[in-house]
Amino acid sequence: MVSVQGFAQNFEEKVDSLMNLMTLQEKIGQTVMYGGSYDQTGPIVGADNGKFIREGNMGAMLNAMSVKGTRDLQKVALEETRLGIPLLFGYDVIHGHRTIFPINLGLAASWDLKMVEESSRIAAEEASAEGIHWTFAPMVDISREPRWGRISEGAGEDVYLGSQIAKAYVKGFQGNDLSQPNTILACAKHYVAYGAAQAGRDYHTTNMSEGELRNVYLPPFKATVDAGVETFMSAFNELNGVPTSGNKFTLRDILRKEWKFEGFVVSDYTSINEMILHGFAKDSIDATRIGMNAGVDMDMMGEVYRKHLKTLVEEGRVSEQYINEACKRILLAKYKLGLFDDPYSYIDEQRENTTKYKPEFLAKAREIAAASSVLLQNKNHALPLFNELKSIAFIGPLVKDESEIIGNWAAKGDREGKAVSVFEGVSEYLKPNQILYAKGCEILKDDESGFNEAVSVSKKADEIVLVMGEGHHMSGEAASRSNLKIPGIQPKLIKKIREANPNKKIILVLMNGRPINLSDEVNLVDAILEVWFPGTMGGAATADLLFGKVNPSGKLTVTFPRNVGQVPIYYNMKNTGRPIPENNSNEDYKSNYIDVPNSPLFVFGHGLSYTNFEYSALKLSTNQLTFSDSITASVDITNTGNMDGHEIAQLYLHDKVGSVTRPIKELKGFQKIFLKKGESKTLTFTISVEDLKFYNNEMKYAVEPGEFEIAITPSSNFKFKHGFQLK
Ligand code: BGC
Repeated sequence: MVSVQGFAQNFEEKVDSLMNLMTLQEKIGQTVMYGGSYDQTGPIVGADNGKFIREGNMGAMLNAMSVKGTRDLQKVALEETRLGIPLLFGYDVIHGHRTIFPINLGLAASWDLKMVEESSRIAAEEASAEGIHWTFAPMVDISREPRWGRISEGAGEDVYLGSQIAKAYVKGFQGNDLSQPNTILACAKHYVAYGAAQAGRDYHTTNMSEGELRNVYLPPFKATVDAGVETFMSAFNELNGVPTSGNKFTLRDILRKEWKFEGFVVSDYTSINEMILHGFAKDSIDATRIGMNAGVDMDMMGEVYRKHLKTLVEEGRVSEQYINEACKRILLAKYKLGLFDDPYSYIDEQRENTTKYKPEFLAKAREIAAASSVLLQNKNHALPLFNELKSIAFIGPLVKDESEIIGNWAAKGDREGKAVSVFEGVSEYLKPNQILYAKGCEILKDDESGFNEAVSVSKKADEIVLVMGEGHHMSGEAASRSNLKIPGIQPKLIKKIREANPNKKIILVLMNGRPINLSDEVNLVDAILEVWFPGTMGGAATADLLFGKVNPSGKLTVTFPRNVGQVPIYYNMKNTGRPIPENNSNEDYKSNYIDVPNSPLFVFGHGLSYTNFEYSALKLSTNQLTFSDSITASVDITNTGNMDGHEIAQLYLHDKVGSVTRPIKELKGFQKIFLKKGESKTLTFTISVEDLKFYNNEMKYAVEPGEFEIAITPSSNFKFKHGFQLK
């Protein structure tokens, strides 16, 4: 083995010196990622894994973790290969590793960048303690498509908020110093436009103008580059006829040339090979050529780089320069992580044993889960509940659940014996004789035999809490739905319970990974608390909200439609030439439906509190803005209710006339504040000309003079009353 120690200090020089010693096939080896095979405690050095590592044909592994497992594998890489280059271990640490936080769509609803960062910091602590160097997160795909299961993994439909959240994740995972063994590489995925899959079907085609791509889908990715993200993942989908894992325009022209991204790009799982089925590559050799030439540096699980790159270079169909660049980027990441100084730095038994589920992590998870929940409806102050009641009936398939509650992509979160169910959570507030319970039905099965018991239990109680929703497998990858209702016979049970209890308070606690069509339920229940899949401490946090220990403050980052026919529906649409007149939705020949209003059931930015916030006195520092200036907008917010609480104030702009039409409103700022009851605060926002820019039809990022409208409001449901001019 040739020692790689003692090279020049500078990373680049170190990598160059190392690369001088490498054969072409060894360089290609760094661009290859395989998956770990498992025994009970972790990955094993299986026949193929071991062989490929020994041959120098593997640079990284996914799904390989645990101190023992990664040590065994790393040892082979270090001691049994010619150059002893350490392996990189990657894993999908998406919303927590052991301590599971709310699914990402839920976490986004907190609008709390600090919490996003804290959650990914904790995830990095736990993951790195199990040998993991790299997470395939954050997913920063904008999506306006509730049918698409992966909407659960992102931050929702908005560009501005999505970009801020994207940065916060990167900061949390990567920390300030990647060489510390508690930091992991982040990966911005899935590049790009994966969230716009036609008809919401996963992996499906996306078609969009370059303007839409640049104005809506690219900015969160750019934000991660600005935040220093180390890796990118190319996606499964094609974009305007070119698969994104073979797309020179997005990978080389935009990511490398325009944005100057210096990290490495990994393909999605066999997405290079899939270019054959897309009808873009003749065979796997062709797919290899296209993938590397387009700028995908590492092949995840496809085996094609290992098999074909060398021949392609020898035949002059792939430039050796591309292999050198890819290898260099991957090695640089390993240097930055400190793996050349100490390849075992992430492999520490004591850390592994003491880092998971720490009490402070669980406390954070509880706080964050509460902040991520959204109170969608609360008729006649149905919530909070009071524990003086004689009894409350808890009904539904998710009351006692401790597996679905942690959601999809829950990394190494335990699905048994760890998560706090809603039942357990409310037991902190109620005595056993106050809690009545019936499961009623399963999430998806048709069996109604539990209905009678559920109805009879509901009749005995003073109030009723239904805990229902989707199963965790109903969102996430390959989980598209064509029907957005609460699944199975749960809606039928809700009806039966309402019929049996016409005057009783009924609260619906909902767990789900996407916007749900609640058009029937809003009329059947008094309150709806959307808790998403809230994670390990989800049941405790839900109880904190139900009993008013915590005041709900989350707000939707995605629109909830009235029915699936309204989809795609999002707050920042265009006006059309025939918008519905403000007070007449029935006029003919307008852009509307004949069977449903245009408005959604719950708008982007919506979320109630147990208190009330009043907005008044919007002031602008000027109503004439010049190109070199900025404008200050302020508003007074008063907590006029009876409880302390957090409020998320949202700033929207509207560019009234553009060389390309502009959305009817666009979020350009927000602030989350805490107000004691009776307290008032003045919030101030500064808008610069930069905030008014967009990509025009020449693909120039520019601002155009003219009239703008502005509002600072509690949700996206408002009409503009103020404006300014840019001259
Ligand atoms: C998903 C990625 C994920 C990868 C590795 C793919 O199927 O699309 O998001 O990171 O698998 O698990």
